[in-house]
Amino acid sequence: MTDRLTIRRPDDWHVHLRDGAMLQAVAGHTARQFGRAIVMPNLTPPVTSVAAAEAYRGRIMAALGEGVDFTPLMTCYLTDDADPAEIAAGHAAGVFTACKLYPAHATTNSAHGVTDIRRLTGVLETLQRIGMPLLIHGEVTDKAIDIFDREAVFVERVLTPLTRDYPGLRIVLEHITTAEAAAFVAEADHPIAATITPQHLLINRNAIFDGGLRPHAYCLPVLKRETHRLAVRRAAVSGSPRFFLGTDSAPHVVGAKESGCGCAGIFNAPFALEAYLRVFDEEGALDRFEGFASEHGARFYGRPLNEGTVTLVRDAVAVPDRIGTGETAVVPFMAGETIGWRFDG
Ligand code: NCD
Ligand code: ZN
Repeated sequence: MTDRLTIRRPDDWHVHLRDGAMLQAVAGHTARQFGRAIVMPNLTPPVTSVAAAEAYRGRIMAALGEGVDFTPLMTCYLTDDADPAEIAAGHAAGVFTACKLYPAHATTNSAHGVTDIRRLTGVLETLQRIGMPLLIHGEVTDKAIDIFDREAVFVERVLTPLTRDYPGLRIVLEHITTAEAAAFVAEADHPIAATITPQHLLINRNAIFDGGLRPHAYCLPVLKRETHRLAVRRAAVSGSPRFFLGTDSAPHVVGAKESGCGCAGIFNAPFALEAYLRVFDEEGALDRFEGFASEHGARFYGRPLNEGTVTLVRDAVAVPDRIGTGETAVVPFMAGETIGWRFDG
């Protein structure tokens, strides 16, 4: 049995670092484990300009303090009025790594998102031309569609025609949760990849209703039934370069989760690598962990692999019930549980 695993330093290709006090509280957890991260732009107001992204990047680095070796990769939040010239200029200047498409009202802080993808023709043509990735929250927002079907319907109604209309557009389907999404990404004759979160690998929708309503297991896209979890697991450990690590760590202060209308989002940054490694260990796929965590994403984004390594050790580490106090008190993913691996730096 392997009790100690050293891999090339990994990256997190989808994370919410927030702003203000929460940013101060959470940024270090991500920087401790990962060399780079794709930082989501769904602040209030959203990050839609090059200037806003540069300022936000500066706040992230300030929150981390001197001497921390971490690179935040910034994204542009697409609205109906997104300006292709601004996006291309931000990309050329090395500020914007990718654009993020939130269908309007699909998730936290997505009210300014895109009402109809046909509004984005100029933007999509530009992204395709300059090779800049489009990151997609892949759920339809039609309230008539069952919430558990919204990703699969998105794949059929939006993603399939999108790949047909823009054959060269580089796409990352974010935080996939269904067999349909995993199959589409694995098989499409298209430059497409997907990120996968630890929660969608480790728990299914029963966790939301386990003995009572469990707001800390609520995220979007919502957890699905067990067959989908197993399909997403198979994709993660398959060795396919189209699947890579993206935590979707999304902290909300405890009172905003434990509420009559609780926010969507699971805070998994403090023990992210340990949680993923548990999955690869359970699947007998430790030899594929490094590809998923440290190689596939960098290659898709056309970036060099990180220098340096991290080591994880088999150990019974208990996840605390709560992290932080006051306006930054958060309940981490797997609170009160033991993961089975320890991050050793
Ligand atoms: C994210 C958040 O809180 O910003 N929530 C979530 O459940 N994943 C938004 C998102 O990625 O959908
Ligand atoms: Zn997210």
